[in-house]
Amino acid sequence: MMRVLVTGARGQLGSDVVAELERRSAERTRSRGFEVIASDVPELDITDRDTVMTAFSAYEPSLVLHLAAFTAVDACETERDRAWSVNALGTRHVVEAARLVGAHVTYLSTDYVFDGTLDRPYTEWDEPNPLSMYGRSKLAGEHEIGAGGLIVRTSWLVGRHGANMVKTVLALMAGDGPLRFVADQRGSPTVAHDLARTLVSLSLERRSGLFHVTNQGTTSWFGFACAVVEAAGGDATRVEPISTDELVPPRPAPRPPNSVLDNTALRLSGMALLPDWRQSVGALVRELIA
Ligand SMILES: NC(=O)c1ccc[n+]([C@@H]2O[C@H](COP(=O)([O-])OP(=O)(O)OC[C@H]3O[C@@H](n4cnc5c(N)ncnc54)[C@H](OP(=O)(O)O)[C@@H]3O)[C@@H](O)[C@H]2O)c1
Repeated sequence: MMRVLVTGARGQLGSDVVAELERRSAERTRSRGFEVIASDVPELDITDRDTVMTAFSAYEPSLVLHLAAFTAVDACETERDRAWSVNALGTRHVVEAARLVGAHVTYLSTDYVFDGTLDRPYTEWDEPNPLSMYGRSKLAGEHEIGAGGLIVRTSWLVGRHGANMVKTVLALMAGDGPLRFVADQRGSPTVAHDLARTLVSLSLERRSGLFHVTNQGTTSWFGFACAVVEAAGGDATRVEPISTDELVPPRPAPRPPNSVLDNTALRLSGMALLPDWRQSVGALVRELIA
């Protein structure tokens, strides 16, 4: 039976990717189903080359969805060695081990590879220029993915699992304090289980190259917070717009002001685009507060 290995499987996206893989496998006939191997730090620390090589030799996966990363964007500025070690070198180990067993690799990357100065959405063929250590280390990870591998960039991820901005807004809403969100950073919020469906399809089809995959539509963090409050039945006038300069305390890692990724490759390939972010985020909020 074919095996699909997921790294970072207990993370925000990994949890939904494992669920999607298990759903797809169950839909197939027994002979065409696949075994899902969900791994995270305790089973498969990607910074340890020997561990990765041994695990891949034992499991012999055909497909690898490599989601593991050091994702604490601000902490990456001070813990630079950890950022390089997990996001760049760790990815090298995964690619080396995958090559050993002939597995196809899908690597998750980020809008933070861009500086956000363009006045239009970024296509897959625009030049990256990361502003932050996180963005630099994730771009270095992209460079480790050789010919035949797949890189999927996404942005502003939210979902059922782990900490994210939907949960932050809901928690602030429950208190009496102000809800201040920046209005000068734009992006496309992306719901993890929507992304998981397309990610799994691209992996099963053994696609290669670079794809931007986000929910459709754009907003600022201020617009996003208003939408979450409204979907939760709250008063959106409580949300106040501020500029990035007004954030207290200031964030150590610079963010791209324009994070919007045009899903050019997906669209031109005739593949289904993800739904509008408002629809998906609204449904997620209603699910989280039910
Ligand atoms: N979140 C976003 O807005 C966003 C946007 C664009 C792209 N992405 C990319 O999408 C992917 C998934 O993101 P996410 O939000 O699901 O992140 P996440 O919740 O932080 O999940 C990442 C997982 O990787 C694990 N991990 C860290 N170091 C590892 C190591 N050395 N070996 C094995 N596993 C390790 C983490 O474990 P610990 O929690 O124990 O460290 C965590 O379970 C990442 O590649 C990220 O760069 C995220």
